[in-house]
Formats: sequence, structure tokens, C-alpha cells
Amino acid sequence: MAKPQISYTCQSCGAQFPKWAGQCEGCGEWNTLVEEAPLSAGPGKALKGPKGRKLILTDLSAKEAPPPRHPSGMEELDRVLGGGLVPASAILVGGDPGIGKSTLLLQAAARFASTGLRTFYISGEEASAQVRLRAARLGLTDAPVQLATETSLRDIMTTLDAERPDLVIIDSVQTMWSDNVDSAPGSVSQVRATAQELTTFAKRRGAAVILVGHVTKEGQIAGPRVVEHMVDTVLYFEGERGHQFRILRSVKNRFGPADEIGVFEMTGGGLAEVTNPSALFLSERGTPAPGSVVFAGIEGTRPVLVEFQALVAPTPHSQPRRTVVGWDGGRLAMILAVLESRCGIPFAGLDVYLNVAGGLKVGEPAADLAVACALLSAREDTALPAECVVFGEISLSGALRPVGQTENRLKEATKLGFSSAIAPAGGKISGFGGMSLREMPDLTAVVGEVFGAG
Ligand code: TYD
Ligand code: MG
Repeated sequence: MAKPQISYTCQSCGAQFPKWAGQCEGCGEWNTLVEEAPLSAGPGKALKGPKGRKLILTDLSAKEAPPPRHPSGMEELDRVLGGGLVPASAILVGGDPGIGKSTLLLQAAARFASTGLRTFYISGEEASAQVRLRAARLGLTDAPVQLATETSLRDIMTTLDAERPDLVIIDSVQTMWSDNVDSAPGSVSQVRATAQELTTFAKRRGAAVILVGHVTKEGQIAGPRVVEHMVDTVLYFEGERGHQFRILRSVKNRFGPADEIGVFEMTGGGLAEVTNPSALFLSERGTPAPGSVVFAGIEGTRPVLVEFQALVAPTPHSQPRRTVVGWDGGRLAMILAVLESRCGIPFAGLDVYLNVAGGLKVGEPAADLAVACALLSAREDTALPAECVVFGEISLSGALRPVGQTENRLKEATKLGFSSAIAPAGGKISGFGGMSLREMPDLTAVVGEVFGAG
């Protein structure tokens, strides 16, 4: 019996179905199934016909030189890339519309071009005149970047094969359109086809390809996760639209560390590198206020100090609000539960708002103690001393767990003029320089000794 033809693809998770349905069985999203032409050669078909070539197998001990790198000279970008651009690699740069992806990549293109890389910038979103206007605004008109505006994948591939650039920037992958695929630009099949063609080109010609991708409301690169799997490196460009800070974060990198960040500031003349992010994140901090706590964190390989702000207020609703920006909502619920059941500090009947100043998203469990201190400080209306930083992980029992890189955290804090730290006991460090370290065994001790509550 012939297999039914797959003709509906979920635009959210990429699952394929023979029939349309209102809800995707794969991911549970509603109204995401879209009719798409099936792939001409599905899995299995490749096995029919003539025999393939026999593979050459090697052992693991083969000596490999580290991949060559092309640094751009923009330190924040090079660090996130793991030291620079790797030839024959594909990079996806995702971010909300309007966050500054085109600006960042035009600036990067100019830098790479001036180091001698043959650089192409292909825009499917803006007219050449618009890109040139932006280049003029950024002072980049003299950079030897080759510009084209095109959405036809066929024409782009023909040009690339003929011109053999070292670096190609495609802005954006959602605007590109392949006439081999029978669906609208931006659909899963089109995005997949574009990414496939361009990553293959990168490997075949030894070029670096940077794909720009817009992010959906749900925070994923529009279309499926499939593009993320195809490329070597995935970078996200994040930030709050109202803030000038922008963070470039590596979430996957086959050629370098993941979770590395580069910090930029959006100015009238484009993105400026921020070499001391801690100073920037703390720059808006006023006099010490209840609810404000400075967390000594590590982002990638770098220590970064950020301010956690909490507000706790009696709720007029039957269901109190828990609102979080820049930190995980589930983790906040856990810390509230630990404070309540291990330390006897109830938050029932209280609205809780938690915010990471400056638009940074913190993912480290080491921020637990800073969050707990911010909540306690807000609830007890007691400010922590201005020159105090906090870090440490909280376990469900209420015990505090030491975290990695204590020394780097303290070093950064000292550098920025902080002189005391609240940290878990047993961190194997008994003070750093002029730092006075208040080592706490558990959250109950913090509640009692630091806030005089409980
Ligand atoms: P853009 O790079 O077009 O964003 P994306 O490609 O991610 O959609 O950036 C758009 C925003 O950046 C726009 O609102 C204006 C602002 N901007 C500046 O503030 N300064 C500048 O020098 C430039 C070029 C843009
Ligand atoms: Mg853009």
C-alpha cells in the first residue's frame, strides 16, 4: 500500500501530518498546520538506485589543528563567536524585529571586510538605498562590503557560486524564497530550504554564512527549530526595546563556548561595545532601596554584576500576582515556597514583582540567593548595605549551595567598589582582598541574621 502523502507541516514544531487539524499533535499549538508540498525525496528514497560511495573511516586520535579564526576586531562579537569567525561555518543570529540585528551585522560586515574578507551583505527586507542610508549613519560607507537586495534563493546561489565570497550575510532567512518549494516565504519549508542551501554552500566553498532570523512572540526563531539544528552556531540578540543595552548570547556553538555574552549599547551612531557591562548595568542604581540587591553573576566566561529589584505589596485580588522580568518564573515560585515552608516567611496575599535591571536575562541558579534577599528586603522593608553583593544557590531544603567561580565574582565586585558579600558557607574562600564575606549555611540564617526576621 502506498504511504499517504505528508502535506501539512506545523509552523511551530515542524511535525508533519497527512491531514489538517486545528491542533498540532506534536506540540499542542493551535492553528499552526499549513499545507506544504512534500519533499521530493523523502528518507528511504535515497537508498534506491545505484550504490553509494564507501566511506573512509578514521580513528579518534587523528590530529586536528584548531579551526582558523577571523576576528572582526569587535571584541564583544569575537568572544561570543569563540574567538572569531570560522570558515565553512553557518551562524544563525536570532532576535526580535527592531532589536538591532541588521545594524549589528552591517557593522560586523564592515569590520570583517576591512580585515580582508570578501564580504557580501544580501538584504531581502530593505532596499539598497535604505541599507546605504544606514551605512552612512553608521559611518561605514567606505567599507568594502558588497551589497545586494534579493529574495530569490536561485539568483543568490548563482551569484555566490560565481563570486566565491568569504562571508555572506543573509538578512533575513524568512524573506528568502526558493522556487523549488511550493509555499510562501517565511514558511517552514522555505526557511528550511534556504538554510539548507546556504549551509551546504558554506561547507562546500569554505565560506562563513550568517543567517538573520526573526523571533516569534514565543521567543523562538520563526519557523521551526530545524534551522537551529542545521547551523553550527546560534546567537540571540536580546534586549528591551526601551533600553539601550543589547546582549548577544551564544546558545549553541560548535566552535566555542555556549552561553557566552557580548554586551552592546544602541546609540545614535549604531551599536557601541560595552567592555565593562557591570558598570553599565549598575549605572542606574540610586541610593540603596528596599528590594534592591546586587547579584555577582557569571555570564559565559565573564563575571557580570546586575541588580535584582523586587516589589512586594498587599494584593487586592484573590489570586496574588507573580510577575518576573529577566528571570525564570518557575524558579521564583520555588524560592517563594522555600521561604514560606522552610523559613516561615509567607507571601500569601502579597503581589510579588521581580525585575532584572538593564534588560539582562539571568539563567544562573547562583542568583537564587540574590532573588531571596531581594524578596526579603522588599517584604521586610530593609535595604541591604550599598556595598554588598549576593550570590548562591538555594536547595529545596533551604540549604545554601556554594557556586562556581566564587573568586571571579568577588574580584569583579571588588573592582566595582563593593566591599562585602553574602554567600553560601563552604565556598572554599575565606575572604578576598578587602572583601568581608558573610558565609551563610542556609536561608533561615540569612532571614535571621541579615534581615532580623523569621
Ligand atoms: P535594526 O538593525 O533595523 O533592527 P532589526 O534588523 O533587528 O529589525 O534596528 C532598528 C532599530 O535600531 C531602530 O528602531 C532604530 C535603532 N537604531 C539606532 O538607535 N541607532 C542606529 O544607529 C541605527 C542604525 C538604528
Ligand atoms: Mg533588520
